[in-house]
Amino acid sequence: MADRDQPSAPIAGNAKPSAEPSAEPSAGLAAPVAPITVVTGGSEGIGLALAHRFAKAGDHVAIVARNPERLARAASELRAAGATVVEIAADVTAPDTPAVIDAALAARGYYADVLINNAGIGLSGAFADEPEAAIERAMATNVTALTRLTRHMLPAMLNRRRGGILNVASMGGFMPGPYQALYYASKAYVLSLTEALAFEAAGNGVRIAVLAPGPVETRFHARMGAERARYRTLMHAMSPARVAGFGYWGFRVGRRVIVPGFVWPVVALAARITPHVLLNPMMAWLLYTEPRQPLPK
Ligand SMILES: NC(=O)c1ccc[n+]([C@@H]2O[C@H](COP(=O)([O-])OP(=O)(O)OC[C@H]3O[C@@H](n4cnc5c(N)ncnc54)[C@H](OP(=O)(O)O)[C@@H]3O)[C@@H](O)[C@H]2O)c1
Repeated sequence: MADRDQPSAPIAGNAKPSAEPSAEPSAGLAAPVAPITVVTGGSEGIGLALAHRFAKAGDHVAIVARNPERLARAASELRAAGATVVEIAADVTAPDTPAVIDAALAARGYYADVLINNAGIGLSGAFADEPEAAIERAMATNVTALTRLTRHMLPAMLNRRRGGILNVASMGGFMPGPYQALYYASKAYVLSLTEALAFEAAGNGVRIAVLAPGPVETRFHARMGAERARYRTLMHAMSPARVAGFGYWGFRVGRRVIVPGFVWPVVALAARITPHVLLNPMMAWLLYTEPRQPLPK
């Protein structure tokens, strides 16, 4: 693993890496030399917890998110814990973000050794009531950006025969989710894509895994307006740190599908074998939220 005593790296810039020569240890080197773990959505929640966990194991970490203040706070928190951090303020849905990440890393002498595709957003409510823009945004974040970043980083990993990709799906990927229909479908895509890629990459020295947690205590649920859904009161939500612990170890030991906890793996298995005609009404009952109030004119 990389040396943890290197000085902290500065903010990479809001999707615009600086053209100035780097003051980092790599300045003057022709090619990136040091491995780093890139965590999208690394400024809070599960992503920040994963960044902490991988940094604790000695990895240098790059965190990617849109809000620069939250990103800076997360980076300070990681540095206070002894991590070496690169901050990259970028929106994963922007088509040039893979290149922006590459440039920000290369300017500091790093290459993406491990990619954690964690950035994701939820959508709660009846599909037909969702604004089209919200649906587009969720597909762009949960599906398109994850796919684009995976395709961008994977060939170099395969050439190096090291590193890997940890995609963050959800327990929702194992079943249909009425009233969070698009979110559940997007996570089914992540699960399916990742399992298939893990098979294709097997034996090439590259680890590919999917992390599929049940509910986790983050601001995610409030953000999508699901706090009043029954699952929030009836289901225990794990801490992000605990989820990250399972994610880290699962990834390191080469698990392909990592379901954190001891009960959720059983739920995942049950979901795989239960007919959807039974699962659909059950999930609808758990996920239903009152329709949103119309916005004031
Ligand atoms: N919480 C749960 O119960 C749960 C359960 C299973 C799976 N998951 C999955 O776990 C992942 C993380 O969830 P979480 O609960 O940690 O969410 P969260 O607390 O809402 O954090 C989301 C993170 O993603 C970033 N992000 C969102 N959109 C982005 C974009 N377009 N570009 C770059 N960064 C973006 C956010 O920062 P900015 O807003 O500043 O960009 C933030 O850092 C998601 O994929 C989610 O689907 C969550």
